[in-house]
Amino acid sequence: MTTSQRESLGVGLLGVGVVGSAVARALLEGRTQQTVPGSHPLVLKQAVVRNLESERPVPRDLLSDDVASVVDNPDVDIVVELMGGEEPASSSIRAALKSGKHVITANKEAIAKNGDELIALAEANGVRLLYEAAVGGGIPIIGPLSSDLLANKIQSLRAIINGTTNYILTRMTAQGEAFDDVLADAQALGYAEADPTADVDGWDAMYKIAILARLAYGASVPLDSIHREGIRPVTASDIRNAATLGYTIKLIAVARLEEGGLLVRVHPALIPNSVPMAKVDGVLNVCEIEGDLVGPLWLQGRGAGPEATASAVLGDIIRVARAPKTINPPRKLSSPPALLEMSDYECQYYLRLVAKDQPGVLAEVAGILASRSISIDSVLQMDSNPEAGTADIVLTTHPAREREVQQAVEQISAVSSIEKFASLLRIEPYGDTPA
Ligand SMILES: NC(=O)c1ccc[n+]([C@@H]2O[C@H](COP(=O)([O-])OP(=O)(O)OC[C@H]3O[C@@H](n4cnc5c(N)ncnc54)[C@H](OP(=O)(O)O)[C@@H]3O)[C@@H](O)[C@H]2O)c1
Repeated sequence: MTTSQRESLGVGLLGVGVVGSAVARALLEGRTQQTVPGSHPLVLKQAVVRNLESERPVPRDLLSDDVASVVDNPDVDIVVELMGGEEPASSSIRAALKSGKHVITANKEAIAKNGDELIALAEANGVRLLYEAAVGGGIPIIGPLSSDLLANKIQSLRAIINGTTNYILTRMTAQGEAFDDVLADAQALGYAEADPTADVDGWDAMYKIAILARLAYGASVPLDSIHREGIRPVTASDIRNAATLGYTIKLIAVARLEEGGLLVRVHPALIPNSVPMAKVDGVLNVCEIEGDLVGPLWLQGRGAGPEATASAVLGDIIRVARAPKTINPPRKLSSPPALLEMSDYECQYYLRLVAKDQPGVLAEVAGILASRSISIDSVLQMDSNPEAGTADIVLTTHPAREREVQQAVEQISAVSSIEKFASLLRIEPYGDTPA
């Protein structure tokens, strides 16, 4: 059969929202045939939404509100799941794979929670499950980790992979605004959901780093093994203090081989202003990958948005259309690294205390830290409040173990001259910055 005679492949869309609409438009315009003429032609056979009355870029006769009309449709070879959320997405993906259909999804929650099972199901049924758009929107991250970098031992992945929190922190940094004010504005502008929990509390970033870590380290990374903190506790004064010390606060997701195993963590961190990650602003995403052969890689781009995300979804669709029978199982190591706990982590810390403005407070705090072998790197007295008779004391430490620091925080919080233990943030280590 010549390329011009290749059989067409039927596509079924589950969801025609922000991303689904961009994907539907591209399919209906025949973009995939224009960009990759030699692949199997793709034909949109059916699309599923909840509300049939809303306007869509899909002809009315192709629309349905029944997931089964795609999943059980014999004319559909490739199911493109763009509904989001764990259910009914995961069940639909499962059913489609079981009935021998390839599945493309942008759904980080479904893949992070049920990926092990779904990947095995795809393999067992001889079909492909591709999910490039689930992490980093349009940035190719899954592809390189799944194929181009397979010869490498990945030493670390460090990423800004949540655009909403990066937008909020960027605004707080640039304009000194408070978290709640920026969040309200981000919601009005459509950069944050009405319920911002998934983004601001770090769930979204946790799902994404779980997916990347599984690919990079050839093993499942249970979500409850990942340390997760969001950005709600970060205040405008933390951001100001960090700037005074030469840092920018970012929500980062990291998977790194440390002594004894793999630590996966999501939390706000002070990033030295001298490194490029400190300048990845607004809704941009970035992923730094360090491989033993390739060295450091830097993948930056639009982590969301209809066209950028559709770029990743369509790339996956084209991969299937070019070679529907090629199955590439992901890296699976027989002895994957042990998963470490956050309490074993060691780094420099930023601590902020609201203390009574009186002599001896600092000596008491320093004594508690010293008793746990935590040495102080710098001390700043900031934001005095004469009316309340308090001042903020900002300390940075030399590298210390998380367990010791948390215990010291408990002790410091109980000191009578400390009004409040206000912040604990970690300073992200970089090879070329002072430890
Ligand atoms: N938006 C982005 O920039 C972006 C970036 C990266 C990844 N993603 C991922 O892409 C996926 C889609 O996101 P999106 O922003 O396009 O979401 P969206 O705009 O909310 O669209 C979701 C679509 O799915 C349909 N849907 C939801 N539940 C359904 C159900 N139970 N039965 C039938 N249809 C259902 C909705 O129907 P109605 O329209 O009738 O409600 C809508 O058409 C998510 O997994 C998301 O995490 C999005």
